[in-house]
Amino acid sequence: MSVHKSDLKKVTTHQLQNMKERGEKISMLTAYDYSMATILDAAGVDVLLVGDSASNVMAGHETTLPITLDQMIYHASSVIRGVNRAFVVVDLPFGSYQGNSSEALRSTIRIMKESGAHGVKLEGGAEIKESIIRILSAGVPVMGHLGLTPQSIYKFGTYTVRAKEEVEAQKLIDDALLLQALGCFAIVLEKIPSELAKRVAEKLEIPIIGIGAGPHVDGQVLVVHDMLGINKEFKPRFLRRYADMHSIMTDAVQNYVKDVKSKDFPNDKEAY
Ligand code: KIV
Repeated sequence: MSVHKSDLKKVTTHQLQNMKERGEKISMLTAYDYSMATILDAAGVDVLLVGDSASNVMAGHETTLPITLDQMIYHASSVIRGVNRAFVVVDLPFGSYQGNSSEALRSTIRIMKESGAHGVKLEGGAEIKESIIRILSAGVPVMGHLGLTPQSIYKFGTYTVRAKEEVEAQKLIDDALLLQALGCFAIVLEKIPSELAKRVAEKLEIPIIGIGAGPHVDGQVLVVHDMLGINKEFKPRFLRRYADMHSIMTDAVQNYVKDVKSKDFPNDKEAY
């Protein structure tokens, strides 16, 4: 599906809420740069997430922890320049909001002012309540993130499915209800059992966006490099690959190298 500029109506938190109410699923993908954002936005993706997964897929780090606030702002401002329609959410990176609520607000204001983004996402529940209140009080839309929260990887120890046991599942439900009561406009649930995600999506009025959380939520999010098959090694069960860009790009680049070596490129028509 491609969207003509004249048909463009910018996505808002209000529209996302309406989509939940009328049962229209929300599409969300990560984006980190201008060119990719242009493609995703024109293809009709509702929400673009400038995820701290940029730390993995753009910078090659093992975890999301090393990416800095300045680097997130660089990625976010590049994405914003490519977007006409989508709602753009930016992850507050590790270390930019956990200290206290003033630090969380300062980091958020830098993101909003310096990138032009439309909202922020934070990982966690009750433990970051004060920060969420402070950010919301400045008029910035906040998306929550519960379940597998990659910024806490060294606490969990693994990237396996979260909240399989009742105690953790109940804490997740309580946190989701709290995030809604505080005023978050949506919540990402990452890598939790499908039945638990269904319970949360049915209980809450705000949109629930899943990644590895099954089909019974209000929308889906994937890391764009994973769904396009740019990354070969990452193969979790929840991932559907829509293209094999790794092979397509490798073939194209190998052909280019061959043509340069054989002096086939450039030909007369490709020269001045
Ligand atoms: O950073 C990211 O890509 C995310 C998604 C996995 C939801 O937070």
